[in-house]
Amino acid sequence: MKFYIATDHAGIAYKDFVKEYITNKGHEIVDLGPDSTDRVDYPDFGRKCAEHVIADKGSFGIVICGTGIGISMAANKVVGIRAALCHDAYTASMSRAHNDAQILAFGERVVGKGVIESMIDAFIDTPFEGGRHAGRVAKIEACGYGADID
Ligand code: RB5
Repeated sequence: MKFYIATDHAGIAYKDFVKEYITNKGHEIVDLGPDSTDRVDYPDFGRKCAEHVIADKGSFGIVICGTGIGISMAANKVVGIRAALCHDAYTASMSRAHNDAQILAFGERVVGKGVIESMIDAFIDTPFEGGRHAGRVAKIEACGYGADID
């Protein structure tokens, strides 16, 4: 699998740890920054990761900020992206099985290294189930194209 990773200053502490973990599992990971702990705006990096994932069909992403909230919100604004803010192996697994998430998001201030490893394992090892979930995922996609209120 190919991953892109991006964080903000409040998510950068785990970036090298995640890169090493993914690489050791035999996958590729491309670092989209930032390169220092200087303050940056999480929307810039959530968007950057999301745009790379959309442009590189079949790839995945990991985004990290302090809580995981802001950077996942930004990533989800890119049409076609399903970024899942996860807190444990269960949510990471379900984000793949039911939601076909391409981006795993989490908060550096929320989870520790053991939980991060278990989330990455679950995200990588769990395929999308398709079936009844495929139509729902298509409806998520449709949300990006305007109102359909009834
Ligand atoms: C940065 O202080 C913090 O607001 C950011 O990393 C993130 O938690 C926002 O959702």
